Amino acid sequence: MAREWNPESWRGLPILQQPTWPDRAALGRVEAQLKRFPPLVFAGEARNLKARLAQVCDGKAFLLQGGDCAESFAEFHPDNIRDMFRVLLQMAVVLTYGAKRPIVKVGRLAGQFSKPRSGDTETINSVTLPAYRGDMVNGIEFTAEARTPDPQRLAQAYNQSAATLNLIRAFAQGGFADLHRVHRWNLGFVSKSAQGTRYEDLANRLTETLDFMAACGLTSETTPQLRETEFYTSHEALILEYEQALTRIDSTSGDWYDCSAHMLWIGDRTRQPGGAHVEFLRGVKNPIGLKAGPSLPPDELIRLIDTLNPENEPGRLVIIARMGAEKVEAGLPPLVRAVTREGRNVVWACDPMHGNTIKSSNGYKTRPVDRILAEVRGFFAVHRGLGTHPGGVHFEMTGQDVTECLGGAQAITEENLSDRYHTHCDPRLNAQQALELAFLIAEQLNAERAEERRLQSAS
Ligand code: PEP
Ligand code: CO
Repeated sequence: MAREWNPESWRGLPILQQPTWPDRAALGRVEAQLKRFPPLVFAGEARNLKARLAQVCDGKAFLLQGGDCAESFAEFHPDNIRDMFRVLLQMAVVLTYGAKRPIVKVGRLAGQFSKPRSGDTETINSVTLPAYRGDMVNGIEFTAEARTPDPQRLAQAYNQSAATLNLIRAFAQGGFADLHRVHRWNLGFVSKSAQGTRYEDLANRLTETLDFMAACGLTSETTPQLRETEFYTSHEALILEYEQALTRIDSTSGDWYDCSAHMLWIGDRTRQPGGAHVEFLRGVKNPIGLKAGPSLPPDELIRLIDTLNPENEPGRLVIIARMGAEKVEAGLPPLVRAVTREGRNVVWACDPMHGNTIKSSNGYKTRPVDRILAEVRGFFAVHRGLGTHPGGVHFEMTGQDVTECLGGAQAITEENLSDRYHTHCDPRLNAQQALELAFLIAEQLNAERAEERRLQSAS
């Protein structure tokens, strides 16, 4: 028998990657305040996402999950939200058109404000301070004042999430995301690039398709699917005081939902089977993600699935593999085989970012685009070999023209990294590199489709 769950049952269990709050009473006051705030999402929306992910599980749709490594208070600006949303939609257009299947769009935004770190402290010139753990916890500046965890930041993260989500909802439903506009977008700095030309070419073909559909009577006025888009939010559920405060019983179903986002995930560093993060997320009914790095043995993955998805519900659980380009072809198959052997329904997604972080010779934390693309290819190859569905990708990107990841069609060099290196945590793909990734995935999905057709016609 599973032990009883309640929103507080994680408290007292072993918990990693937490700040040392200097004033627990002040934290308690902010938690009480958050409990009175409106939920950011509605449980019915989380159920819709689960239904979409069940289609992904079945190989009938593809998951596109991306956004900032860490959102920040300093970069809170409508243009940044708009540009991020635009690039994600452009990637979705490339994939929908290229792969001819629905794309489930989930942003790493409106709540992605806390970070696991490799150490509790950071030392510069023999001064040691608490590590930066995301704007929800402390400030990135290297001063004792900024680095002291401040619970008021939880409330600020909630407010920024609410405003971000409000704009995203307006964009998604208000006409901004109309397919007739999306395919004509070309961000200034992308339009002159190879990816821009490729996108332009796709846009021209899409214009013909849309004209043909209009001639058949399918226009934005008659067809909401052309006028609007579904867009969901997600973040790592790391600071459980915040997550618990936003967890409510849904009056329609009587079930608990974490209403801070549609989907929450457990990080690779906090997925201990008896730990607090697994305990908290097992009890909420949202779709959830589980990061799976090279240190996760297959039997432990099955134990985690037993705990997190005991009813084997398709769409409930996304396994986000983040092995690294060199390890994916050896590291992923044992996990996939175990899950298949045990008959578990999961979505397999590929995070090609977190296993491919390196330090450049001039000291920047970076990721070579080649390795990112290589991990995606490896992920598809593993699933092709095992006859399972490559369900989605999970990546870090921004709509801005940053220079944080090496290479790509733009050929960013180590010397270029300092030009526009703005991330608060990990290096992100810029808009061009993100489109490059989308074209590669579309090719892979097309190959998968061609193979399915070949098998169908042979049988
Ligand atoms: C992240 O997604 O930003 C992250 C920290 O990933 P992981 O838990 O896989 O290391
Ligand atoms: Co990251």
